[in-house]
Amino acid sequence: MPNSENKSLYVGLMSGTSMDAIDAVLVNFSDHACQVIAARADTYPENLRKQLMAAARNPDACTIDKVAQLDRAVAECFRNAVLNLLDQASIDASSVTAIGSHGQTLQHQPKDAGNFSVQIGDPHVIAFGTGITTVADFRRSDIAVGGEGAPLTPAFHRWLFMDKTTPRTVLNIGGIANITILDSSCEKTIGFDTGPGNVLLDGWSSIKRDQPYDSNGSWACEGKINETLLAFMLADPYFSQPPPKSTGIEYFNNNWTAEKLALLAKKQISDTDIQCTLSELTARSICQAIQNFSSHSKELIVCGGGVHNKFLMDRLRSCLPGVEISSTKNFNLHPDWVEATAFAWLAKRCLERKPSNVPTVTGAEREVVLGGIFM
Ligand SMILES: Nc1ncnc2c1ncn2[C@@H]1O[C@H](COP(=O)(O)OP(=O)(O)O)[C@@H](O)[C@H]1O
Ligand SMILES: [Mg+2]
Repeated sequence: MPNSENKSLYVGLMSGTSMDAIDAVLVNFSDHACQVIAARADTYPENLRKQLMAAARNPDACTIDKVAQLDRAVAECFRNAVLNLLDQASIDASSVTAIGSHGQTLQHQPKDAGNFSVQIGDPHVIAFGTGITTVADFRRSDIAVGGEGAPLTPAFHRWLFMDKTTPRTVLNIGGIANITILDSSCEKTIGFDTGPGNVLLDGWSSIKRDQPYDSNGSWACEGKINETLLAFMLADPYFSQPPPKSTGIEYFNNNWTAEKLALLAKKQISDTDIQCTLSELTARSICQAIQNFSSHSKELIVCGGGVHNKFLMDRLRSCLPGVEISSTKNFNLHPDWVEATAFAWLAKRCLERKPSNVPTVTGAEREVVLGGIFM
């Protein structure tokens, strides 16, 4: 019999470090595949997004009361995203097995700085407001067993994209970029955050042009690479640090860019050339990570918003000659919905009490079931 008997409906909810939108997907899972039935991206109210950005950038100025208010406000947006999604798909809540909600990260400090990762968006509000069992708080069980709690999508990438004969790498270009190396000849699955995805590009575009992102990379494309600045940036210790490693916007942000620019002393460089150089840094840091850890991967499958940045994708292609680069769309999953779909899958795994962290990726001592169940 085909797998149709085992099909089940889940909702995945994700808002990443870019805070561009809450991605909501309705997914039908069978044993070895998934199908996105409906999807939408709902933006935060502008005022809330500003407060979330401020809290993430400057946690010392954020009071406990403020965090609690944001926790509630984010949860209401996530709940509304589910209600809108079900309405759009004309699906009743009772048909959905569970929601997997990533929440909104406010701080990710997985190493010496504190060993914590904070996601907000009260899952009780989502569960009660939708009438659907909600799985959330995915990162902390991995952290409790010594892991970084990130990245968590490699197990999903492995489940969906692993090919027995062709070594592949999956690249997600969100605010931060992460890779999963899928090579069936290797015992271990390797995966880690390579560093900045869109975050530095968005940051520079926001402060210099008041544009939340550099659409298609067309601004960067007008500039020239400043090799001295690029070398200062690539010398950042994060890039040479061995995995397991994960990072966030606490580290890669506008201050990071300002610190590297300060190394140039008084040398003048145009804003456009800086955008171009930041794009090159993003592409090169990703390529170096792939070349260092996945030298026989001849296929790169890309997802996340960065796939829409034509200039960045062109730079990736030129840094990785001989590698076939495509979007996850060629594998039946639109690149905008991969991460949210991963959290729907993680919710399913949690309900099945199956572990989903990959200890070689997060550095955890062992495999654990991820997430808490709220109903
Ligand atoms: N047409 C485009 N051109 C350039 N960049 C884009 C485009 N569309 C989306 N992006 C980038 O993708 C980002 C959102 O990607 P996403 O995968 O949702 O990241 P996150 O997981 O951090 O939320 C935007 O902030 C923007 O930088
Ligand atoms: Mg996003």
